[in-house]
Amino acid sequence: MERTLSIIKPDGVQRGLTGNIVQRFESAGIRIVGMKRVCLSKKEAEAFYAVHKERPFFDSLTSYMSSGPVVVMVLEGPNVIQRNRDIMGATNPAQAAPGTIRKDYGLDVEKNTVHGSDAPETAAKEIAFFFSELELMR
Ligand code: RTP
Ligand code: MG
Repeated sequence: MERTLSIIKPDGVQRGLTGNIVQRFESAGIRIVGMKRVCLSKKEAEAFYAVHKERPFFDSLTSYMSSGPVVVMVLEGPNVIQRNRDIMGATNPAQAAPGTIRKDYGLDVEKNTVHGSDAPETAAKEIAFFFSELELMR
């Protein structure tokens, strides 16, 4: 059993895609063991994406991620880190496979609707960034 962090980014929440995206996970048999809507400050977005701080898109990305509410979820299931990445599609919606969230809804390489952890270590860190042990226990 594995856990991963999913975020519905501001472009997805703003366009009312939360239900559709949640349904894709549930239809795939993935369990949602934590979920909340939060507004990140610029500083919080910078802390979350600290791994990208040297990248040219860092300022734009963190401004965007703090521009409106996001929905953060902890997904649980076998191999869920990779399965979530498959359901999301490639980072650039133009290169995402048909039927993926980013292909269907992504606006551009930045406003690509969803985030998903990319490895077990980052999943553990990203889950702990948003959720306490207690919130995920029941
Ligand atoms: P994420 O972390 O959000 O799940 O996306 P990812 O692994 O597919 O992509 P990553 O390389 O980790 O990049 C994180 C987010 O930064 C934005 N980005 N902008 N302007 C650009 O070239 C560019 N490249 C990436 C996207 O919002 C991407 O999801
Ligand atoms: Mg990433």
